[in-house]
Amino acid sequence: MARKFGRRILPLMALSAVALAGCTSGFGPQNRQNTMRPNGPASQDILNLFTPWFWVAVVIGVGIVFATFYVAIKFRDKDGTRRPKQTHGNTVLEIGWTIIPALILAVLGVFTVQLIWKLAKDPGPGAMKVEVVGKQWWWQFTIPTDPYEVVKPDGSKTIAKQVVTSGELHIPTGRAINLNVTGCDLPVKELGPKFDPATYADNNPCNVIHSFWIPELNGKADAVPGRNHRLVIQADKPGTYLGQCAEYCGLSHANMRMRVIAQSPADYEAWLANQKKGPVVPLTLANGTTPAGTAQAMILGSQSTTPLGFACTNCHVFDDPSKVNYGPNLTHLASRTTIAGASYPIIDNPTPQGTGEITGAGYEHLWNWIYNVNSSQFGVPMQNTDCRFPTGVCVGMPNFSETQQQTVKGKTTVYPAMTPEQAQTIANYLKEQK
Ligand code: CUA
Repeated sequence: MARKFGRRILPLMALSAVALAGCTSGFGPQNRQNTMRPNGPASQDILNLFTPWFWVAVVIGVGIVFATFYVAIKFRDKDGTRRPKQTHGNTVLEIGWTIIPALILAVLGVFTVQLIWKLAKDPGPGAMKVEVVGKQWWWQFTIPTDPYEVVKPDGSKTIAKQVVTSGELHIPTGRAINLNVTGCDLPVKELGPKFDPATYADNNPCNVIHSFWIPELNGKADAVPGRNHRLVIQADKPGTYLGQCAEYCGLSHANMRMRVIAQSPADYEAWLANQKKGPVVPLTLANGTTPAGTAQAMILGSQSTTPLGFACTNCHVFDDPSKVNYGPNLTHLASRTTIAGASYPIIDNPTPQGTGEITGAGYEHLWNWIYNVNSSQFGVPMQNTDCRFPTGVCVGMPNFSETQQQTVKGKTTVYPAMTPEQAQTIANYLKEQK
């Protein structure tokens, strides 16, 4: 038996150790969400702490397994007829195996707390600030900027001091980015009188905890309504760094992804300059009107008006890169690579950035998304309760491909469905919004 142990179990244990070794130090998959492949100082610090302690744990784990097998085989009763001699209370052993792990954990604790403090440090005034807000089910990024003018179609100007985007955060390389991570939390009064607190309590799209996590750049930061959590990220080299919400936040939690797009400082400034511009194709003409049947008329109008509209502006902003609303700001939608919680591409055949990423014609995804958010084309549909009826509370994107019906005070109104052609018209408009 002892010989069998040597021949069979030892090689198995050696193999497991080799397999485990494959998990660490950059040997893991290049799936762009691998903490073992850090691309910034914070994630590198975390790996530098993890790697030596991983090996300490491997030595302890393998040692204990080995010792258990060894003792079980060596001290077994060879005849198998009598109960082996029982041993109780070896003082030296018991004190030893209490003190040694305590010491190991104490030393690990010192290094861990040191790193926690280091990662939590304010990166100072040189860092770029970004407000990160977790919503159901997408991330909103607000970048404070120098004051700039947003020019309206009628020639009027407003001064803006921030750029709002969603799903994708652009950052310059080599610079600390000071993220203030929070979850959106709108009081009922801000949503207006039509929101009944009784129903709102269960349907508030803004009272959920998310967690922001770009594994190659840093650890996680929970996005909690009413709280501000600092997370400092920095990318050493240009690239797209993927992440996903790491706190269960509702049925579409799995569809709540995000990406950090790190660019050289010059490329980043060019991106920012473009974001500061007004929309390429404004919603209204200079005289404030929109011709019937155009995408703009469908976006502005409601489903109870003629011609038919879909009141997209209830949740989205189309005309001002500095404004926030319940849904993502779409002023420069076509400058992004993805929609829908960074889950679906809107550019044709993008270079796959990670495993499991959906590729294909981005345009199809865009108009399908507008037409029918539950379309099977998306595999697992993004869940949503209806945005408009009956409570008026919006969580997620509504399905416009269905006829809607609303009864208020006994009077029923039927709202016609969107046609695929109308969805394509709106998608065509959005495709221009670079
Ligand atoms: Cu947001 Cu999970």
